[in-house]
Amino acid sequence: MLRENDRGTYTVPTRGLYPFQWNWDSCLTALGQRHFDEARAWLEIETLFAHQWPDGMVPHIVFHVPSDGYFPGPEVWATNRLVPTSGITQPPVAGFSVKRLFTEARDKTPARARAAELLPKVDAWHRWFYAMRDPQGEGLVAILHPWESGRDNSIDWDEAFRRVPSDGIEPYTRRDTQHADPSHRPTKEQYDRYLWLVQLFRGLGWDNARLHDASPFRVVDPGFNAILIRSCNALADVAEALGEASIAADNRARAARGLAALERLWSAPHGQYLCLDRTNGALIDSASIGGILPVFAAIPKARAEEIARTIERQSERLRYVVASHDPADPRFEAKRYWRGPAWLVTNYMIADGLRSAGHPALADRIVAMSLELITQSGFAEYYDPVTAEPCGGGRFTWTAAMVLEFLATEGQNGSPT
Ligand code: GLC
Repeated sequence: MLRENDRGTYTVPTRGLYPFQWNWDSCLTALGQRHFDEARAWLEIETLFAHQWPDGMVPHIVFHVPSDGYFPGPEVWATNRLVPTSGITQPPVAGFSVKRLFTEARDKTPARARAAELLPKVDAWHRWFYAMRDPQGEGLVAILHPWESGRDNSIDWDEAFRRVPSDGIEPYTRRDTQHADPSHRPTKEQYDRYLWLVQLFRGLGWDNARLHDASPFRVVDPGFNAILIRSCNALADVAEALGEASIAADNRARAARGLAALERLWSAPHGQYLCLDRTNGALIDSASIGGILPVFAAIPKARAEEIARTIERQSERLRYVVASHDPADPRFEAKRYWRGPAWLVTNYMIADGLRSAGHPALADRIVAMSLELITQSGFAEYYDPVTAEPCGGGRFTWTAAMVLEFLATEGQNGSPT
């Protein structure tokens, strides 16, 4: 499947529905590619970073070739790049992936050289995050568009989205609902607001120094921050191995501040972290997988323990964990994208975090359930956690990549480094 979706220098998430390069898909795809072609795995990440913006941002989509199968395309984003890109970003897994490719490399010499090339670029992206998305220096970065979270239509955004207008949007035709079941996809009301934000940012010339304060949608997502924190620490490890002391120190400091600040998002009643609405400083009452993902970073042991219990509670209601939203919440929808379904990429990060935090049995169960899902239902985009029904797009790249990772670490008690 990884070969089938390979376009030479980048891999599409799946044919039809997503015909371009996506940021975190690529970084996770490289983890699968490394099992059969290390050079190709490095290239996947290098291609993404070849389209990094001068300010350090790495865009969420690179539109390498024209395709009318996806909306919104380059003409809507109008980011004025030689090779068009979107104007927003996505969860920064690159640092984590670079470390994994580097430390696990069979081919050590090229790995060293390629990691050394990527190091300052990933570092610039991390610096961009804290400068542009944490202008008050709180230690946590905000997302300005739900698509940045990678969890497009999560229940987490519903409340904050009420503040986003939906008037004055240029007429448009969605393409996603032609490739996938509309009842599995975001609603029209959500789509209108996604586009309203794009139009606002475009009107501000995609000037990141202005977007944060101008956006009516500014949410601090614990999962997103945890991925960034993990990547900062991973990048610091690589920098140390390559003798880049100042990159190492900067990233270590970012991670330490981030971890300390994450405490503010902990909710004892929910047994997990919650998103914070930066426009009003309030926690958002929505128990999503975004608040479970922090186990991927080095959170305190007691927090990881609570999160393990929360997942156990979920598994009393579901055949497959980890659901993208708490199934006890009446807003949970088993088939609608990020409002309930299980995804293998989040399972991967959560299983890895649980293993490091001393919960190998639960991690093994998550891996086993993930493999059962693909055995039963194929390499879907995501799955109904009650019935295992495959949902969204099919023959999905990152699902396949995660399976290779699961098979490689299964039974070895091997935590990804
Ligand atoms: C959807 C997902 C996002 C992913 C993209 C491509 O937008 O929500 O996380 O990166 O599809 O697979």
